[in-house]
Parts: sequence; C-alpha cells; structure tokens
Amino acid sequence: MTYAAITGWGDCMPPAVLTNADLSTFLDTSDEWITSRTGMKERRVSHVTAIELSTVAASRALACAGLDPADVDLIIYGGVSNEELVPNSASGVQYALGATRAAAIDLNTACTSFCYGLTTATAMIRTGVIRNAVVIGVELISRYMDWSNRNVAVLFGDGAAAVVLQASEQESGVLGSVLGCDADARQTLRVRGFGTGYAGVGVTLGDTIWDFDGQVIFKRAVKAMAEASIKVLADCGVASEQVDLVIPHQANLRIIEAVAKYAGVPMEKVIVTVQKYGNMSAATVPVALCEALNTGRVTPGSRILMPAFGGGLTYCSLLVKWGDRVTPLGASAMSLPPATQTALEMVNHIRANQDPHGRSAHGLMAPEFVEVRAHH
Ligand code: UT7
Repeated sequence: MTYAAITGWGDCMPPAVLTNADLSTFLDTSDEWITSRTGMKERRVSHVTAIELSTVAASRALACAGLDPADVDLIIYGGVSNEELVPNSASGVQYALGATRAAAIDLNTACTSFCYGLTTATAMIRTGVIRNAVVIGVELISRYMDWSNRNVAVLFGDGAAAVVLQASEQESGVLGSVLGCDADARQTLRVRGFGTGYAGVGVTLGDTIWDFDGQVIFKRAVKAMAEASIKVLADCGVASEQVDLVIPHQANLRIIEAVAKYAGVPMEKVIVTVQKYGNMSAATVPVALCEALNTGRVTPGSRILMPAFGGGLTYCSLLVKWGDRVTPLGASAMSLPPATQTALEMVNHIRANQDPHGRSAHGLMAPEFVEVRAHH
C-alpha cells in the first residue's frame, strides 16, 4: 500500500514583532485583557508578500526533504491571503521556486486550509495521481485586518510554513482525516470587501471589514475540534492515551485547553505557540509542527493529532503517524530580506491608508441578502 510520508518541513516567520503594548497604543485594549482571554502576547507582521513567505518556507521544506524543486509534482497554497485571485498564489510560488513541473492549487478553507491541503495531497499520492507534493499554510492578515476593530485586531498574525509529502511504502503520514463544515453559522466569521458580492456596490476592494462573533465561534470551535478528534481516533483504532502530540490550530489558549480535555490528552502533549504568534489562520498548524520538530518533540513513529477550525465554519482533525526521520537532510540558502520598519510602523502605515468612511458603508452591503435568496 502507498502512503504519503511527511519528509520535509520548513517555516518562514517574518521578524517584526507586534506586542500587546503596541496594540494598546491605538486600540482600547490591554495586555491583561488579551493575555487572560486568549493567551497571546505577541504576533508577527510581515514586510514581504505571502508568496515570498511561502516560497522561503517551501524552499526550506524541500531542502529538508532533499527534493529538487524541479521534481515537485504539486504545490498546494493553503490560506485566504492572496495578492490577487487571478493568477492564483500557488503559481507564484511555483515560479519563484523554479518548480516548473508542478501543478499549482490554491485551497481556501480559512484556518483549516493547511490541514485540508494535507488531506488532499495525501489522497492524491495514495491513489497514484502524483508522487510528491508541497503543502503550504500561509497568511498575511495584517494587510486586510480592520485595525480599528479591537474584537479582531488583537487576535491575528502573519506567518508561513510548508511540508513535503512523498510516496512511501512505510505506514506513515496522514492515516485518518475527519473534515466538516458548520455552514449554518458561516456568517459569524466573514471578511467583507473581497469578492464578487462587493462588485458595483460602492466598496473599494481591499477596504475590508470583519464580522466576528467570537463567543459563537469559540463554542463551535471547541465542540467541532473535540468531536472530530474523537472520531478520527476511533476511525484509526487509536486510543487517546496513544496520542504522543497534539498540534492544534492556535486561535485561543482556552480553546486549545478545552479541546485537549475533551479529546482526553494532557496539556503536556500539546504544542502551544499562540503566545508568540497569535492566530495565523492556515499557518498555525504547520508552524507549530515545525516548532515541535525543531525542539525534538516529534520522535520516529509519533502519533500526532491535528485539530483545526476556521471560517466557513470549517473544521477537521487529522491523525498523522511520523516516519523514521526527524532531522533535515539539508538546509535552504533562501531567506527573507531584513525588515526596515518595526511591526508597529507597518501597522500604522496600513491604518493610515484604511478608510473609516468607506468602512461604515459596508454594513449596508448585499451578501446576506444574496445568501438568503440563494436558500429559497
Ligand atoms: O481562527 C478562527 C477561529 N477563531 C476562534 O476560534 C476565536 C474564538 N473566540 C475567541 O477566542 C473569544 O471569543 C475572543 C478572544 C474573541 C473573545 O473573548 P471572550 O471571552 O469571548 O470575550 P467577549 O467577546 O465576551 O468580550 C468580553 C468583553 C466585551 O466587553 P463587555 O461587553 O463585557 O463590556 C468586549 O467588548 O471584552 C471586550 N473586548 C475587549 N476588551 C479589551 C473585546 N475585545 C477586547 C479587546 N480589549 N481587544
């Protein structure tokens, strides 16, 4: 039987750090509120594009796997942060890497995009469509964050990481996936200002405003990630005590603790990065996976649970069995150019270009109406 082993991994974290104190300079918030409600202390703000972050992460993952970019069959760009919708972002990564033979797919299921991408690429390898793939989880949320809204502005950060999957006869890689979507609550997490629903109704594309019902999302996230985790363990015949590591989506420390409790796994086995990177949406799971590998938390044969949750409201939980190798075969020469501005300077620049006037008009926009019509 063919499996899809994870043979390479690499992250690319932008260096500029935005602290809770930085956020307090322009929002009515505090380090005490953010830390106690979310566990977050810092997040990163990128000075480069999401394609650049992805390219460096993918190049590191390929070097780690010892795979030449020219031999890559497929690139999946998982995330919602795109410079343009046409051409897609995966093609930009393909070009920058020189992965000239690779197919290039953008996959958007919001925060679960990396895990959905991992499942998709695994299925394609296991059924013989391709022999290998690069799967990226990336976000550049700072560029379209509504920096005037404290309900969301304190929660998110930028970052990227990638893995390489290769066909293998050894039982490893993703062994089970439970995927789903609580679409009845899809309106609780929405970024307005992208997409055809906004064409011709007086909105400047890119002038985004966020709908975010934190309490509903919180409850749904805990329930869906916990239930999906219990189901994927049952599907794979693995008891919760046999799980070696949990690498969850990092939206809120309290959500992570609740999911671990329901899934029956102690917090000592859970990788937590939310304090230093915040919620990077699609990038949280692969960045935390890289951290787990780089700090020796993953050992040969480790059973890893990956629950995630995001806009849609999509959810999933994956069970991964690690292969034999936990050290990189090589290192990439690619790196980011240095940042010339602080994170706060970059955010203030974005804020200065956001139009509070245009933003107030968004409340009158059509998408709910379109959605209701589509249902009847
Ligand atoms: O990645 C996608 C999935 N995302 C998630 O899973 C996020 C899920 N939701 C959450 O993590 C939490 O609901 C939040 C962290 C977003 C909010 O925490 P909460 O404990 O649910 O707070 P809340 O929304 O109930 O707000 C409590 C109070 C409110 O004030 P009042 O009405 O009690 O006077 C808010 O206005 O906290 C206020 N508040 C803030 N105060 C200071 C909201 N945001 C802030 C802020 N700073 N940044």
